[in-house]
Amino acid sequence: MTRLEFPSGFLWGVGTSAYQVEGAAHLDGRGDSIWDTFSQVPGAVLDGHSGATACDHYARYREDVALMAVLNVGAYRFSTSWSRVEPEGVGGSAINRRGLDFYSRLVDSLLERGIEPWPTLYHWDLPQALQDRGGWVNRDTVMRFVDYAHTMHSALGDRVTHWTTLNEPWCSAFLGHIAGVHAPGHRSAVEGLVVGHHLLLAHGLATQALRQSAPHARLGITLNFTVADAADSSNPADVAAAERLDLQFNRFFADPLLLGTYPAELWPELDAAGLTAGFEPTIHDEDLANICSPIDALGVNYYHGEMVGSQADPHLRQGLPAPTALPEASPHPLPEGIHTYERGLPRTGQGWEIQPEGLTRLLVRIHQDYTAKTDIQVYVTENGAAFDDEIDLQGDVHDSERHSFLVAHVGAVHAAIEQGARVAGYFAWSLLDNFEWSWGYTQRFGLIYVDFATQQRHIKSSGFWYAKLAKTNQLEIPLPLD
Ligand code: FCB
Repeated sequence: MTRLEFPSGFLWGVGTSAYQVEGAAHLDGRGDSIWDTFSQVPGAVLDGHSGATACDHYARYREDVALMAVLNVGAYRFSTSWSRVEPEGVGGSAINRRGLDFYSRLVDSLLERGIEPWPTLYHWDLPQALQDRGGWVNRDTVMRFVDYAHTMHSALGDRVTHWTTLNEPWCSAFLGHIAGVHAPGHRSAVEGLVVGHHLLLAHGLATQALRQSAPHARLGITLNFTVADAADSSNPADVAAAERLDLQFNRFFADPLLLGTYPAELWPELDAAGLTAGFEPTIHDEDLANICSPIDALGVNYYHGEMVGSQADPHLRQGLPAPTALPEASPHPLPEGIHTYERGLPRTGQGWEIQPEGLTRLLVRIHQDYTAKTDIQVYVTENGAAFDDEIDLQGDVHDSERHSFLVAHVGAVHAAIEQGARVAGYFAWSLLDNFEWSWGYTQRFGLIYVDFATQQRHIKSSGFWYAKLAKTNQLEIPLPLD
């Protein structure tokens, strides 16, 4: 057995998001979000499911907070549902006090147990009322988001110090507006780019507004990254394909946020694809300076990387699996010349490659390219895996594959810290099995098993393991038998 010690004060947490766990879609004055609407589109979600009931976290949050205490976590990363608090997407007299009260009770309940609340203001669930006015394509939505950030801060700011503006703008912008597999289900490269810019701006302006009302608050954003590898690193065309993927997946978001500029390499590519005229006018003077407002924390979500080449892989058996039969476009605004390669890695139950060393490289790269010369703390805000868990007659779930996955990835975080990356915490995705977007309830990511028929919760073996990790701050790695 090897024991890896984490830096003292390292934060161990768990995460969920509002639409994936809360349910109570029509209770206490909540308005519809774009995910309520999108779930109704035939074929959009496996088995026609929605988050209408989900894990009923809205009613059961106390029980869930008690379970978090059993897991010994120091923080709970949850998101607040904009349409629960502002059913019409606007504040003032239209604020739904009952919605706000839910988050206030949740925060109190966390603090009673010594668990730090880590709210994210936006995890993909725009109020439908704002979508009806153009959604994130409409620049006015940016100002609505700033107002909503104020609303949340006025209600919770006396007890919450750590705020995250957005979760994974890549998904909201590109899966939602280019690939069409997430709400609102559009398919336009220009829309995706425009929405990406408006999301970044919403983050920047909300960060400034929160900073003004709460100079001591800790503010940040969470991005999802890929690790793009060339199929043949000695082939310049494959290296270029990997760089092109990195450019539009990672750097399109990280460069403006952390370096204050879109990557120079982006513009000739957009020109060649005929996308500049539709995108460039969206960027007003001062936008980039606003987007790059100083932050305290960068959240990094990592599930897997991708190996790509400039030509199609003749051996490809399985690319990224699609959840439903909904015709799927590429999520990339510049998809040409990027072909996924098979590299024979083991896969999760969902078919995602298992690639822990990618997390080490990613964290070291983020440090070197973006955060080394700043005071920004990096947190892994999501990492985890779906497997086909089975519950036995005693109510136990022996999820050894998830356990191995987490050991390997937490080990990869430790390796990154040893190589100089400043990583301050790790949040397992997820606290609970939940509504996995277009995959419906078919993908179980939880440390806690949820029986969706009865809403009973059962801590899985991986959850008990995580509880020990969080308590000891030490990762035990079984030595390989050789
Ligand atoms: C991330 C999302 C999260 C969850 C995981 C599996 O992209 O942020 O809500 O669906 O993937």
